[in-house]
Amino acid sequence: MNSNDIFCKRILLAALGLGLLAAPAFAQQSKLIARANTMADKLEPQMIEWRRDFHEHPELGNHETETAAKIAAHLKKLGIEVQTGVARTGVVGVLKGGKPGPVVALRADIDGLPVTERTDVPFASKVTTTYNGQQVGVMHACGHDTHIAMLMATAEVLAGMKNELPGTVKFIFQPAEEGSPVGQIGGANLMVQEGVLEKGPKPEVIFGLHINSQTEVGKLKYKPGGTMASADIFRIKVKGKQVHGAYPWGGIDPVVTASQIVMGLQTIISRQIELPEDAAVITVGMIHGGVRNNIIPEEVQLEGTIRALNKEMQQQLHDKIKLTATKIAESAGATAEVEIIPQTPVTYNDPALTDKMLPTLQAVAGPQNVILAKAVTGAEDFAFYQEKIPGLFIFVGGMPKGKDPATAAPHHTPDFYIDESGMKLGVKTLTGLTLNYMAGKGKK
Ligand code: NI
Repeated sequence: MNSNDIFCKRILLAALGLGLLAAPAFAQQSKLIARANTMADKLEPQMIEWRRDFHEHPELGNHETETAAKIAAHLKKLGIEVQTGVARTGVVGVLKGGKPGPVVALRADIDGLPVTERTDVPFASKVTTTYNGQQVGVMHACGHDTHIAMLMATAEVLAGMKNELPGTVKFIFQPAEEGSPVGQIGGANLMVQEGVLEKGPKPEVIFGLHINSQTEVGKLKYKPGGTMASADIFRIKVKGKQVHGAYPWGGIDPVVTASQIVMGLQTIISRQIELPEDAAVITVGMIHGGVRNNIIPEEVQLEGTIRALNKEMQQQLHDKIKLTATKIAESAGATAEVEIIPQTPVTYNDPALTDKMLPTLQAVAGPQNVILAKAVTGAEDFAFYQEKIPGLFIFVGGMPKGKDPATAAPHHTPDFYIDESGMKLGVKTLTGLTLNYMAGKGKK
């Protein structure tokens, strides 16, 4: 029995279990999946070549012009309709299948990071650029190079079965996932604003994945509901009354008040949030105030980040930060102006969709390799798509087998390393999710 047979058997059991597929439709479906898996295997060497090329030539967010050109050329070669310049440097491809069916969106992010690579792989990046006035190295230190290569391979597999494909696929190659300058809209947010989910064929569902340098090759991690946190910025301006440091009673000290606010904010998390429901974080990352040891200044500014895993808690945190800061300031005779700048919503995996697609994940990776993961308090702008349509965002292993995750370099660091043999599973996951969703498994 080869692996495709085992795969088909799993799909059959899953399909019969759900009672969603009639026998002839199922036979057709399992043939398509088996073909997709064979094609993914065949494409692996080519996909690794693409990945190495992107890795060696990374580009920062909103500057991914060479990257976008390569993606667009590949999609065009496959006969896919291509739109470029979406959200500045994004590429969108539309593959219309030969049979009627739903529109499924698949997303990959394409930007690199201002990190100087320190690995000794032969295709290590030597690219440098100026970022925020500083000379920096550029590196695909979050694995987005693998995301591009996996989605390009997925496009090739699905384009190869265009006539039998029961639906339409929208390939979204998105720039600037790592963020745009504060105050500037970019990435997924801008793609959504420009109508990527509205114009042209309108997707009813979206799938995305992220490679992970600390998860073993061959494994998939998923979590229904909040899987990655919302990220919002807060700024607090504490105003007191300036006075000589020797005579504090003559003024109002914003340094002491700001310190009380920092501590007060932590009691929101520890005393007021129902932590067993979901985790939450408030971090003050900046405190600015004063110019000299013996002058109590007029003003102190605080700035920080707020992380939440569900919308209600996110709103609760915003309200409580405002209340805590203003009332502590008031008690000292000072004032606190609180500004909250929403950045990224919660990456929220639609529970019903996650439930329905779980058999697909188990079929592609093997049930023992599909891990129900804990939520992550980092953020991901895939959340913007999920605010509009149901979506599922999962993690794919990219750590060499047998390595200790504690010693594997984390994302965004100079030693970040991905074992390329993990990418194949990513392609099978994306094609499997697409084909099974189209066959009706994603619908009630
Ligand atoms: Ni990333």
